[in-house]
Amino acid sequence: MSWKYPLSDIDITESDLEALMEVARSKWFSLGPKTSELESSFAQYCGVKHALGVSSGTAALHLALMAMGVEPGDEVIVPSLTFAATSNVVLYCGATPVFVDILGPEDLNMDPNEVARHITPKTKGVILVHYGGYPVDMDGLESVLDREKHFIVEDAAHAPGATANGKKAGKRAGSLGDIGCFSLFANKNIAVGEGGLLTTDDPDIAETVRLLRCHGMSSQTWDRHSGRGFTYDIVNLGHNYRINEMESVLALGQLDRLDANNAKRKELTLRYWSNLEGLANIDILSLPFRDRPDGGSFHILPILLKDPEVRVPLLEHLKERGIQTSIHYRPVHLMSYYRESHGHQVGELPKTEDVAGREVTLPLHSLMSEADVDQICTAVKDFFA
Ligand SMILES: Cc1ncc(COP(=O)(O)O)c(C=O)c1O
Repeated sequence: MSWKYPLSDIDITESDLEALMEVARSKWFSLGPKTSELESSFAQYCGVKHALGVSSGTAALHLALMAMGVEPGDEVIVPSLTFAATSNVVLYCGATPVFVDILGPEDLNMDPNEVARHITPKTKGVILVHYGGYPVDMDGLESVLDREKHFIVEDAAHAPGATANGKKAGKRAGSLGDIGCFSLFANKNIAVGEGGLLTTDDPDIAETVRLLRCHGMSSQTWDRHSGRGFTYDIVNLGHNYRINEMESVLALGQLDRLDANNAKRKELTLRYWSNLEGLANIDILSLPFRDRPDGGSFHILPILLKDPEVRVPLLEHLKERGIQTSIHYRPVHLMSYYRESHGHQVGELPKTEDVAGREVTLPLHSLMSEADVDQICTAVKDFFA
């Protein structure tokens, strides 16, 4: 289907394409110089000592938990209003994801008090998600954790460039916990198809991840190509979670424009909010995160309908007008696999379930114009007229 207003789009310039062709002509496609350049630029951007390119956001999360030593018997606290990868990686480690509720309809991030309520002696740490690129309240979260015992992994898939409030004000996502995990999937703020980045200040974690992303090999193909040694040892049980040079070079181009593109996303978000204010005032819908636009990376534009029954008719109405929509998210704990294999049930997380039944995501990306936003909002208003 070709949408007049797609949910997301990718900012690729002629110079990105030239850089991509240069990589193709170099005939060096696996981990190499462009990945090293991306890693040092991204580490500097996030304000951390180390960044590592990996094959996806999921790979970054899995490697993060492996590096934190998560094992069978451990519990890791996660939100359910997220993409399944956030909790799947806990299961990959043989551990148990413990789902916690969100703050509420104004702030869809996990509730620190709910985190506190779910801590047990088995809790190893928390994977937080900066939902939609709106940063989690780090002061609130840290105040309920014992940071000597409990790790914080940021699932920052939505949040490159987002900055914290509170004590860590101004610090970027990826530098707020022990490890940051970013996705470069096709709909993200930096979108190259597949790929991910993992950030940390800890040299030991960085070294472990460097080994584990590449089968636990003591030296890489690029090292040998560069004349550093002839063979390698396998020193740990790793994975093939490597990024490639084509992904890295495209990410480098977009990283240069990330702040400008996030600023554009913010302008468009503010435009949506002012256009939809009338419907919010008469209680037809509400606008999550509206009272705290600062520091976001504005990955998506969620609205919450008052009446869950109108969601499907509204989505149909928008579809007829060429407007693509989505839902973020069906709660993970209620997905068939999680219900059938892990015994989760409706009613476990009332706020998450309520919001998930009423949420609609409208198009948002840096290539949209304010006129596009106006057209989309007119279509929403027409539906309710
Ligand atoms: C919140 C969240 N976490 C994790 C991921 C997984 O990232 P990837 O698709 O790059 O594996 C995504 C991507 O869709 C996501 O939105």
